[in-house]
Amino acid sequence: MQQIPLVDVKAQFASVRSELEARFADVLDSGRYIRGPHFQAFQEEAAAYLGVKGSVGVANGTDALVLALDALEIGPGDEVICPAFTFYATAEAIARRGATPVFADIDPATLNVDADDAAAKVTARTKAIMPVHLFGRPAPLDDLLGLGLPVIEDAAQAFGAPGIAQRGRISTFSFFPTKNLFCLGDGGLVASNDEELLERVRVLAFHGSRDKIDFDFVGYNSRLDELQAAFLRVFLTQLDGWTQGRRDAAARYAELGLGDLVELPQDEPGHVYHLFVCRSPERDRIVAALKEAKIGTATYYVTPLHLQPALRFLGNEPGSLPETERVATENFSVPLWPGIPAEAQERVVDVVRSAVGAVARV
Ligand SMILES: Cc1ncc(COP(=O)(O)O)c(C=O)c1O
Repeated sequence: MQQIPLVDVKAQFASVRSELEARFADVLDSGRYIRGPHFQAFQEEAAAYLGVKGSVGVANGTDALVLALDALEIGPGDEVICPAFTFYATAEAIARRGATPVFADIDPATLNVDADDAAAKVTARTKAIMPVHLFGRPAPLDDLLGLGLPVIEDAAQAFGAPGIAQRGRISTFSFFPTKNLFCLGDGGLVASNDEELLERVRVLAFHGSRDKIDFDFVGYNSRLDELQAAFLRVFLTQLDGWTQGRRDAAARYAELGLGDLVELPQDEPGHVYHLFVCRSPERDRIVAALKEAKIGTATYYVTPLHLQPALRFLGNEPGSLPETERVATENFSVPLWPGIPAEAQERVVDVVRSAVGAVARV
């Protein structure tokens, strides 16, 4: 039985392999490995793609979050509202700044933060709201912006989604190798329409210095490598095609009838399907069947952030975020990447059908 991976990044960039090799040779020969011409050009190209005034390339998506919070002068005594159904880095960055992550529940239809619950959690100490465009689906920004607080968009999973980064005060991205726009290692980006804020990020990411002679802030050393920037410039030219490929694969799962077996992610035009995350009360049985059939699958945020050991000091109790805790027990993903063969998707649906059928017979 042939294995079907959850994602196939190598298949994705096979068509641009020679361009990547040329970029590698170019950087190798240039002798500029940090903050060279590709780094500068990628920041401009990424900002133009996103439709924002500027961007700063940093070492990874977690640093991007910490730097955004630092640039907004968020620290001890401040609260930031975020979901608990997201990758740990979202809340980790807030805690790393000495601020308090305050968790809002999710909307079970979209898995994104519930704007009403976020509104209910605002206090005099709330300094920002940090929605996550989870699994590539845009969060409800209009409602969140209506709360009148700075919005920090954690867009790690949503590069390429229309309108992302344009309305929040500041936005962050990860280029981890499975993301929609990725590099061949670690990388991240901070984007904004606020040039003063971006300049602060730029300086903070460079040891708090403009010239490495005078150090104005206690900063960080967090830079996107020249080589990764060179690769990212190639990948950015492919992104729209890849996004369409993801959307086509998502539509094919629906056509194949997967939605009759499990709950599919709700579609909307801006969804860029970073992952194809389904729900079923029979999740564990389905996951076991997929693994048995050598089909890639994963479950997400099984221990939601409010219950993670490192954040126990915040005093959040089980049962405090009911929708988050329910989806943690029900979600699982099935393989999806731009260009995934139809036969692979057919096999996935067959295996899920057998697993769900087995339940019906029990
Ligand atoms: C929602 C979210 N935020 C932040 C991050 C952190 O990005 P990185 O792994 O590049 O530090 C990730 C990456 O997995 C993520 O999914």
